[in-house]
Amino acid sequence: MSNIFSYNQENIDKAGAVLRDGGLVAFSTETVYGLGADATNDKAVASIFAAKGRPTFNPLIVHVNSLEDAEKYVYVTETARKLAEKFSPGPLTMVLLRKENSGLSPLVSAGLDSVAIRIPNHQVAHDLIKSSNRPIAAPSANASGTVSPTIAEHVHQSLGEKVNMIIDGGACSVGVESTVLDLTGEKVALLRYGGTTREDLEKILGYEMITSENNDTAPKSPGQLSSHYAPTKKLYMNVPLPKEDQIFIGFGNVEKCHLNLSVDGDLVEAAANLFAMMRDADKLEGKSIAVAPIPMIGLGLAINDRLRRASFPK
Ligand code: TXA
Ligand code: MG
Repeated sequence: MSNIFSYNQENIDKAGAVLRDGGLVAFSTETVYGLGADATNDKAVASIFAAKGRPTFNPLIVHVNSLEDAEKYVYVTETARKLAEKFSPGPLTMVLLRKENSGLSPLVSAGLDSVAIRIPNHQVAHDLIKSSNRPIAAPSANASGTVSPTIAEHVHQSLGEKVNMIIDGGACSVGVESTVLDLTGEKVALLRYGGTTREDLEKILGYEMITSENNDTAPKSPGQLSSHYAPTKKLYMNVPLPKEDQIFIGFGNVEKCHLNLSVDGDLVEAAANLFAMMRDADKLEGKSIAVAPIPMIGLGLAINDRLRRASFPK
């Protein structure tokens, strides 16, 4: 039986319930198909990375239906308002500072203090956000390292049964991903070229955006930012036995740990807990943080990648 469902209210309601239950729903947007999960649910967001087989935790785009909704999660700046007025809903994603009490999973930001927000211009996406009553975290609905899907069948070919439902909204009209802008700095930085053109954006902004072409220090691949969350305490990974003065983050059936990413050794659960536990460990009394070995399979690759970044000497 195929997990592709046609677009009607009954299936939208069903999909909304699947999302609220922590499941994955692929859905059409005007750019490419998205692999959606409830952005407030750590485990659901972690399962996106598991389904895609992503080796790293790239931050994800959070999809909402209006700027008012966005304001629950991020600080909407004047520039964001100006750009949204012209280009939203549409293929434009704006990275904005995250509100402390946003309720979003830290995993959608991959530990950063910002969130990428997009208001998609597609009836299916709109109806699904509405019916789920949740902000929807969604990367493109394809396995890592493969091209983004623009029809429902592509999603099925790439992800198969790893997604609970695929809502078929036909072919995507834009076909390339959204343009991603960083609005957290003094000047807007263009992080990814996409469906909204640079020319159109700069016409509204009235100046040239920061890009990797005109600025050596402009972030090229946001997933690789060194400003990614790292604890202030020194972090050691792959530690089977911690020292007396260390805060120990365990994994699986380990004795005497302060925190445990997953007692059951479940990598999805571990991913869901990772960023929050690094923060928690940082607040505990101890000289440094030691993390138990995490197996290099499935989500373990992404977890180890993040731990490695967090363990770089400061
Ligand atoms: O058109 C699109 O944008 C599609 C549809 C489904 O909306 N989504 C999409 O998501 O392409 P994804 O995960 O494949 O790409 C998200 C991009 C990545 O380049 C990521 O690094 C960047 O947005 N991004 C997300 N959150 C960010 C943040 N807080 N700071 C900087 N970059 C961020
Ligand atoms: Mg993608």
